[in-house]
Amino acid sequence: MRILVFALALFLQMDRSVWDGVYSDAQAARGKNGYTSACASCHGETLGGRGQTPPLVGSEFLKGWEGQSLNDLFEKIQATMPADAPGRLGRDENADILAYILSSNKYPAGRDELSPEGTALQRIRIESAPSKK
Ligand code: HEC
Repeated sequence: MRILVFALALFLQMDRSVWDGVYSDAQAARGKNGYTSACASCHGETLGGRGQTPPLVGSEFLKGWEGQSLNDLFEKIQATMPADAPGRLGRDENADILAYILSSNKYPAGRDELSPEGTALQRIRIESAPSKK
């Protein structure tokens, strides 16, 4: 019974993954503009990182977030980035930038935009490779 409840909680919490088309192309295009003006100076035009600043694309970046929810990544950005002015950007703008980060990591786009709501972001799991269903 306890295992069942645990499995159900897990299922309800993270029933989608970044492979399920969780952002739209139009949103990622908006996010690219936001990224270029607020993030690229440190993380680089192509998100590859620069000096002490880590990349936001690639296996090393994804490994660090494997199994966590998009809300964890979103909150990291919302609370601490841009590093020279934390919290300067609104939730909508950060959701757009997160969509751009997902598209840059070659996750598929879908019909709907990525919501800036924590409850929605919490349900989406970060996976470097699609899980076998
Ligand atoms: C002034 C330089 C600077 C700017 C501008 C900046 N960052 Fe960062 N960022 C850093 C540094 C340095 C780190 C590593 C330390 C840390 O994790 O806080 C980092 C870490 C991160 C991480 C965690 C990376 C990981 O591998 O876990 C994310 C995500 C991130 N930044 C996103 C953004 C986004 C999105 C923006 C634009 C809204 C942005 N950053 C703007 C310097 C910057």
